[in-house]
Amino acid sequence: MEKQVLYSATKPTGNLTLGNYLGAIKNWIKLQDEYTCYFCIANLHSHTIELSADFVKTRTLEQLAMFLACGLDPKKSIIYVQSMVPEHTELSWLLNCTTMMGEASRMTQYKDKVAKGATSLTTALFTYPVLMAADILLYNTNIVPVGEDQVQHVELCRDIATRFNHRFGDTFVIPKAVVPTVGARIKGLIDPTSKMGKSDDDPNNVIYLHDTDEEITKKIKRAVTDSLNNIAFDEQNQPGVSNLLTIISACEGTPIEQLVDELKGRGYGVLKSRTAEAVIRTIAPIREKYNYYMAHQSELLNIASEGAKKAEEVARKTMLRAKQNMGLL
Ligand code: TYM
Repeated sequence: MEKQVLYSATKPTGNLTLGNYLGAIKNWIKLQDEYTCYFCIANLHSHTIELSADFVKTRTLEQLAMFLACGLDPKKSIIYVQSMVPEHTELSWLLNCTTMMGEASRMTQYKDKVAKGATSLTTALFTYPVLMAADILLYNTNIVPVGEDQVQHVELCRDIATRFNHRFGDTFVIPKAVVPTVGARIKGLIDPTSKMGKSDDDPNNVIYLHDTDEEITKKIKRAVTDSLNNIAFDEQNQPGVSNLLTIISACEGTPIEQLVDELKGRGYGVLKSRTAEAVIRTIAPIREKYNYYMAHQSELLNIASEGAKKAEEVARKTMLRAKQNMGLL
């Protein structure tokens, strides 16, 4: 039987974080044998906000190195950079024609920026989820393993594809989002009420996958908890403590209830050292491999161009089918 297709991506607007790993990448690694996998560095998405060319180029190479360091294997999976496959932008235009203004306006990322009073927003930020839909649909994707914040975009992708198929005939496979049961939304260490994001202004709020053991320990020691002095999983009233429990659980696979039992009656200092240990055990081997790939950048570029060639073979066919169905010569 032919394998189902898995597609996912990260956006190089910063360095990859523990949130990216636990919410997404860790699950990709496990699924590489079971699915035909495409893993993309979505660098075209980076320029939806104002970033310099050098910044985006550097983050792209770093994320590529981190993909490999985390265990994505170019012998099993297709690993590539979005801008190297022109069909992404081409399909994005076609999909813009079947996306409604109302749908795009409801996307949280855009809505949040507007609500915060941001003024110089690009049209690309508004149509960003349409490009993401193109990424997914080009490869006849069945599943998209992502963290919780991206589920809304995958839902939109499903709606766009369904409408397109209805209007122009069967063209796209309808994908579905898959989120992990634990770790789908890792929160910040200083602000445990919002997600740990790679472009956070406060580096103490975020654990980067390249952080040293000392940095990890220091950041976790500073993590905000509460004054209840009670180790329990209660996201509403104890968001900081719950976040640390989630991090340990997602790193180790230990169920949260078991951790609560184990740590009951202990102080927050113990919880924090336990968290630091779990994170260091997860990240230290990744960091070593990352340093190797960063020192061998020509290997990275070879992997990306081989990946792009393979990706384009599939993307070209989907693109042709979409154009024909739309009556485009
Ligand atoms: P990005 O780069 O923001 O995040 C990459 C992946 O990491 C997940 N993630 C998290 N999971 C748990 N806790 C967190 N704190 C956390 N932060 C991030 C995200 O949910 C995501 O799965 N638009 C996408 C990139 C993209 C894409 C695609 C994804 C472009 N095209 C096609 C899937 C399919 C993004 O900005 O991800």
